[in-house]
Amino acid sequence: MKRDSSLVTKAAITAVGSYVPEEVLTNHDLEQMVDTNDEWIRSLTGISERRIAKTPEHSTAFMAIKAAQDLCQKNNINPASIDVVLVATITPDYQVSSTAPYVATEIGATHAFAFDISAACSGFLYGMSTAASFINSNQYKRVLLIGADKMSSIVDYTDRTTCIIFGDGAGAVLFEPSTNDYGFENAIHGNDGVGRDYLNIHDGGSLHPINEHSFSAGKHYVRQEGRTVFKYAVKHMSETSNQLIAKNKLSPEKIDYVIAHQANKRIIDATTHHLAVAKEKVLTNIHKYGNTTAATLPLLLADFESSFKKGDKLLFTAFGGGFTWGAAYLTWNYDYKN
Ligand code: COA
Repeated sequence: MKRDSSLVTKAAITAVGSYVPEEVLTNHDLEQMVDTNDEWIRSLTGISERRIAKTPEHSTAFMAIKAAQDLCQKNNINPASIDVVLVATITPDYQVSSTAPYVATEIGATHAFAFDISAACSGFLYGMSTAASFINSNQYKRVLLIGADKMSSIVDYTDRTTCIIFGDGAGAVLFEPSTNDYGFENAIHGNDGVGRDYLNIHDGGSLHPINEHSFSAGKHYVRQEGRTVFKYAVKHMSETSNQLIAKNKLSPEKIDYVIAHQANKRIIDATTHHLAVAKEKVLTNIHKYGNTTAATLPLLLADFESSFKKGDKLLFTAFGGGFTWGAAYLTWNYDYKN
């Protein structure tokens, strides 16, 4: 039986928060560490600098807590009123122990249940669908979704093909039942398991547990076949976004902003070229943060929150390890108040 969509409670983003470490790692700093140069990095990735959490205690959970506290403080949200805390991450503080429960406890979300979402660079996007489903169910009123990754903890700073790309950071959004019919409209997600051969940390999982050779071979670091990842990312983000545009009877002119995963400026440009969306609608901050994995989408929302108007049509898209990908359509819920 078809569900009457008018009976479903729409989930709206009602608050945004963020945190990035103070320490800046520039392209010129990387020139001192590996055989690379500022010109190559900027022209092939669009990145000039990234933030790195150098203090060991400044873990993924630390950044997630800071982003959540920023959201709560700016918007006068009592953490005890939050029902669910979701943390999208591939760099949890510990294996086995989920990061989200610790974040919930530390921020004072004493009535929430909490768990992690692991979908690499698509983690926040998948989290949006998860958060919206909790609100749609009418069982939960406040879902806090955080995207946080300390990529510097899994990057090999002698490997010039990965260390130039990644950075650390966290962003948070609050989903609540919409009171004005703006909010999360729908999404399309996809995946292809072939991707695990092209982007992974080889050792440390159940297939290849850490052994005495893992560290000397650097198999505890993230590795990728950049060109393959690049091609898959452009193909799937553009195809899925176009499917979502058609599904919602949108057109490039009707979209106000594209919020795309910040992996590489050339991936963003090639993807949005296929969508025929005007360049000024495509938001970017990759030049200053690099690829922060699950944090790129909420960091864009935090950076551009003051530009959004109630009713603006936002198209999200992301691609990540697995491979995982998707696109989501959301109408913005509020005008910015300083
Ligand atoms: N500095 C200078 N030269 C570099 C370099 C660096 N940091 N990294 C690689 N090179 C060299 C290569 O050795 C190669 O040299 P060669 O032609 O003499 O063999 C040349 O530059 C081109 O390398 P290639 O890897 O083919 O470049 P590319 O155009 O694919 O760009 C990436 C490399 C990594 C920037 C690009 O593939 C990419 O962004 N991929 C997606 C990565 C990503 O987003 N992953 C996260 C998951 S979403």
